[in-house]
Amino acid sequence: MEEILAALPRQQHPDLLVGMETADDAGVYRLSSEIALIQTVDFFTPIVNDPYLFGQIAAANALSDVYAMGGRPLTAMNILCVSLKMVAKEDLAAILRGGIDKIHEAGALLVGGHSVEDQELKYGLSVTGIVHPDRILTNAGAQVGDSLILTKPLGTGVLATASKGRLASPAVEQQAADLMRTLNRIPDDVLASGTIHAATDITGFGFLGHALEMAKGSQVVLTVFASQVPVLAAALEFAAMGLIPAGSFANRRFCEHHLQVSSGVKPLLLDLLSDTQTNGGLLLAVAPAAAPHIVRRFQEEGLAATAIVGAVTAPGPGVIRVEP
Ligand code: CO
Ligand code: CO
Repeated sequence: MEEILAALPRQQHPDLLVGMETADDAGVYRLSSEIALIQTVDFFTPIVNDPYLFGQIAAANALSDVYAMGGRPLTAMNILCVSLKMVAKEDLAAILRGGIDKIHEAGALLVGGHSVEDQELKYGLSVTGIVHPDRILTNAGAQVGDSLILTKPLGTGVLATASKGRLASPAVEQQAADLMRTLNRIPDDVLASGTIHAATDITGFGFLGHALEMAKGSQVVLTVFASQVPVLAAALEFAAMGLIPAGSFANRRFCEHHLQVSSGVKPLLLDLLSDTQTNGGLLLAVAPAAAPHIVRRFQEEGLAATAIVGAVTAPGPGVIRVEP
């Protein structure tokens, strides 16, 4: 995909602040010296059985890329691929209700959408947000000395695989769904403090894949302490049983040449570090003095597992060191 996109004509415009070149979370376009527009789109097939939950998760996931740019979502549009012969009307209604409830929780409005006939159900949103042009958070701003913060525990990919095999208990499934539907909103006071230097959200490429994008974008070495990374206990158990989704191995291979793993790191933790997440947490590079306060603020807002997981340790070509 990267190759195909790279073959498209390059675009340059004085107001294009974040384009397609840097593998960032969303596009950003300056409208004035005060306001820049953030645009993103995301949709996928159901990952949970409950249609209302699926709608919430898909919407929270699409909204996340606006938060990852330091922005505030304003409007959203539904994207729906569905065959009404295969999906019950009330299930479809529940999906869309889950979506609009999340949009409203984010303080945004649903203003339209588009649906197409499709044998395989897919749902998501395109989201428009705003940010002050001087306050955009990208994956390219991490500075040597910064602390790294992760705001949600890893392991929802492993748990999704366990669910498909009907191995996860209802309580564990609910825990994973609750995490995936939680908005990645950054508290206003934290945003205003200007102490976040770089941000991205952890999704399909797993923690290591998205951390690597930050390391490359910022031209730094990120050192991650595996034992400090929050992980779901149930995911660790299922991973120990060998329930590791194929995507994790692909993610690991993608990072391989930029990854230095110390000998003491538990292999299971490394598996979870490459686990594909749906609406996973934010990875933030922040001023070290502000890090404990930022962790506390996310915890107060309901993201109890938020933790300092490492540091930006050196300039470099984009490398991740994993220490025990
Ligand atoms: Co993203
Ligand atoms: Co996205």
